Amino acid sequence: MRELILAIESSCDETSVAVVEDGAKILSNVIASQIKSHQRFGGIVPEVASRHHVEEITICIEEALEEAQVKVADLTAVAVTQGPGLVGALLIGIAAAKSFAWAHDLPLIPVNHMAGHIYAARFVEPLVFPLMALLVSGGHTELVYMAEDGSFEIIGETRDDAAGEAYDKVGRVLGLSYPSGKEIDELAHLGQDTYNFPRAMIHEPHFDFSFSGLKSSFINFVHNAEQRGETLIKEDLAASFQASVIDVLVNKTIRACQTYPIKQLVVAGGVAANKGLRTALTQAVSSELPDVQLIFPPLKLCGDNAAMIGAAAHVELQKQHLAQMDLNANPSLVFPNKD
Ligand code: KG4
Ligand code: ZN
Repeated sequence: MRELILAIESSCDETSVAVVEDGAKILSNVIASQIKSHQRFGGIVPEVASRHHVEEITICIEEALEEAQVKVADLTAVAVTQGPGLVGALLIGIAAAKSFAWAHDLPLIPVNHMAGHIYAARFVEPLVFPLMALLVSGGHTELVYMAEDGSFEIIGETRDDAAGEAYDKVGRVLGLSYPSGKEIDELAHLGQDTYNFPRAMIHEPHFDFSFSGLKSSFINFVHNAEQRGETLIKEDLAASFQASVIDVLVNKTIRACQTYPIKQLVVAGGVAANKGLRTALTQAVSSELPDVQLIFPPLKLCGDNAAMIGAAAHVELQKQHLAQMDLNANPSLVFPNKD
């Protein structure tokens, strides 16, 4: 019998519900983005996010079931993002998932949002272990070593800002709307790395990152130029910033992959949509790690979505990692310690 998981994601600014078959096939993946409501504030307003989730969640559940042509009686389990994320936003998805699971007598599977981002790669290829995941999103920048399904070891992470956060802050200085990662990526392709911003900790032996120095150096540079009445070239600023981020990400990731005995490299999270990063990593892997298979999820699965939660939930269900009706949101949920 096929396993059908109804998955719910509401950790930030997308309400998403999916139906996933056997952890590997998307039958539906409804995503209601609220980004337009947050743009005028230049970032996510948690209270606004929660209110939107309340309005959208039941509509998304109905749509996801209808699009998948699945009846409630056919479902195997309900999965939901437990954290990390905004507490109020997470709670809406969790309340909906608990009610649905209770009403229909289905098992409830709690899922780590970051594990979800990694498992988005499962829709491209079966995962082969051990693997390395480079997780780059608005809130996280981590190198995660996975010895097997459902096992996560963070071997390096940002000591300050996440890569996506740096993109969004720099974007604000460039007068771009939130979130600005995609637009900076597009501008970068029209410019050159002429300003040469710092590449923090690039040659240090550990696998940690730091992006706040780059962000400050960028902002100071732009403000100083403004004060002197100098005109800077926006495309070159974007290209220089992006070159610095990509250099550090690629350098550290390749070194991590040379240090651990991995078979695959998965790149995940919103910043994995970056075209410059995709090109640079593809080149670096083919020349430095010819035996490693590089997997990028398709663009629509890089950002937040519930299908990735369904893929990660499949593994949790096999391990019988289930939740009871007292499941609570955990805004700072971390990967579990290794058994
Ligand atoms: O994973 P995600 O959708 O949400 C979080 O869980 O954080 O990531 C959102 C982040 C934002 O910071 C956004 O600016 C960034 O991903 N992003 C990009 C690109 N597309 C989205 N950053 C760089 N290049 C892109 N093409
Ligand atoms: Zn995310």
